[in-house]
Amino acid sequence: MILPNSIRHILETAKIEEVVQHFLPLKRSGANLTALCPFHHEKTPSFNVSPTRNIFKCFGCGKGGNAAKFLMEHEGYSFPEALRWLAKKYNIEIQETKPTTEQLAAQQEEESLFIVNDFVLKFFQNNLPGAGLNYLQSRGFTEATIQKFGLSYAPDSWDALKKAATQAGFKLQYLQKLGLTTPSGKDFFHHRAIFPIHNLSGKTIAFAGRILDNSNPSNSSNNSNQPKYLNSPESPIYHKSQTLYGIHMAKQAIRRQDECILVEGYTDLIALHQAGIENVVASAGTALTKEQLLLIRRFSTNLKILYDGDPAGIQATLRGLDLALEQNMNVKIVPLPHPDDPDSFLRKVGITAFTELLNTQAKDFISFKANLLLASAGNDPVKRAAAVHNIVDSIALVPDPIKRSFFIKDCAALVGLGEEVLTLETNKVLQALAQKQPVFIPKEPVHASVLSFTNGTYERHLTLLLLEHGAETFSPTENITVAGYILSNIEDVLGHFEDPLCQRIFRETKIKLASNQLFTPLYFINHDDPAMSTLATDLAAIAMKQDNNSFSPEWQNRDFQNIGKQGISQIITNTLLRLKLDIINRWCETNRKKLEEAQHSGDMALVLKLLKIQAKLNETRNELARQLQIASIS
Ligand code: CTP
Ligand code: MN
Repeated sequence: MILPNSIRHILETAKIEEVVQHFLPLKRSGANLTALCPFHHEKTPSFNVSPTRNIFKCFGCGKGGNAAKFLMEHEGYSFPEALRWLAKKYNIEIQETKPTTEQLAAQQEEESLFIVNDFVLKFFQNNLPGAGLNYLQSRGFTEATIQKFGLSYAPDSWDALKKAATQAGFKLQYLQKLGLTTPSGKDFFHHRAIFPIHNLSGKTIAFAGRILDNSNPSNSSNNSNQPKYLNSPESPIYHKSQTLYGIHMAKQAIRRQDECILVEGYTDLIALHQAGIENVVASAGTALTKEQLLLIRRFSTNLKILYDGDPAGIQATLRGLDLALEQNMNVKIVPLPHPDDPDSFLRKVGITAFTELLNTQAKDFISFKANLLLASAGNDPVKRAAAVHNIVDSIALVPDPIKRSFFIKDCAALVGLGEEVLTLETNKVLQALAQKQPVFIPKEPVHASVLSFTNGTYERHLTLLLLEHGAETFSPTENITVAGYILSNIEDVLGHFEDPLCQRIFRETKIKLASNQLFTPLYFINHDDPAMSTLATDLAAIAMKQDNNSFSPEWQNRDFQNIGKQGISQIITNTLLRLKLDIINRWCETNRKKLEEAQHSGDMALVLKLLKIQAKLNETRNELARQLQIASIS
């Protein structure tokens, strides 16, 4: 594990503009840098980078955060992976807790397995000329494609790989762990075309070997009863259910096009790539898992499935797709005429007609499923009812109620039933589901636009002032910083904050100041609690909008806008007073309700007590209002 101090050091050393610039061209625009957002489709740039705040923020889609967050979003890295990338870029030595002996062993084993795979891939590539190359060329793959996908060949021998690897010093034990050598000591792949399989960051984790058989490619076995494809077994570095073929090469294109095309086969994916369609991944012949969908969802929520038109096959595959609905993904299906698969169909009709088909023939998953099930049910009412229940079960999985209503509408028209019946049935399923599991809450980032400074958000306003100006001098005569001033004036109300995160920002600032540390907003931007860093980023983003001076008209009316004219100290005093007034008003309201209840129940002693409190509160309120008036006119 990377030590917390080391994490901070890395995050504070990394310059957001340098990290982003590594992937996208940035243009200066006032105090910020801008670009077309890599996370959603747009024509005018709303993606902003603030070098002073060390964050990025897109005002279009809401994504934002520090350099590590950018790498996680853009490259699909985990947090530790992002940190390692940054540490490498900035030549920082990572400080880690000593791993346990087992952890160390597992880590070393993993690294060794990757090295073995690299060697094996080279071995297969060296053996390509001859039968392997002839076969791949006969499939229409160009030299560039063969190179790009590492397509290669396992020679016609039972031990050539084992010999080469052990001679090069690799342990047999590792070859066996990877399934490259069978328990009886033979090479697992022989006389097969090889398709290396990669993880998200492009490391070779497994191999698939296709029989060199030019007969009907949709035939799953040849005469000798050998399977068409052999795949490496699971290993410490290959987990089938978490792997999608081609994802490392597709991720950027998926994000750019905000759509992922899913095909079944290795050759389908490669053929599409060769024709210029790069936002494609292959399920490699198994039903989709939740992990695979989450992998896709990192880059887009739009999934387009391109399967051959064999109904049995489709029905089997679609079962896994209820999972996609649950993840709130938009699933579309493009049926291909049986018995074509994307590879053969593309070769038949050419890229123009193929793209046309992709764009015009996509059907949403629910109607597709409805059509399919109803067709196989025919006129049998019992079977039709079962089909409708099956469809309703799928609709109930869609988390978005509006989308659900549309599906119900479409489905009602299709099955010839009233919308009310289907709504009723859907609600029944929903209720049953609700009892089984917690309600789905999408983990979207809070958008800056949500933070408008109306009722109850003076807390946020004050937090923003702290983060933006905390390190500045509040009053040169008293030699106190803005952070110091706010902290010494907020003591009495901090316990009554409505927003626990804002409260935590002040409490943690207090601790830092007490131990004589300098105030820096980066502490919160890089906070290890994601909720805290999200809040700090969103607040900084409001100030960034302010830099740009072109967003959010309601902002113009806020006193924050007038910082230059009014002076920061006056705005802070003002905001503090308003915050306190807000809290007193809330107390007044609570007290008033209690008073009503007491009067109702005739508890005169309580009524008197509450009236006294009311008077005190009114007094405080008037005093605050008076101060506010003075503060506002001076
Ligand atoms: N598959 C497999 N094992 C098999 C058959 C298929 O693992 N015995 C997987 C492979 O990932 C294959 C996918 O299922 O790519 C789809 O199978 P299929 O359509 O039969 O093969 P294609 O990909 O079309 O391969 P080709 O074009 O070479 O026939
Ligand atoms: Mn095929």
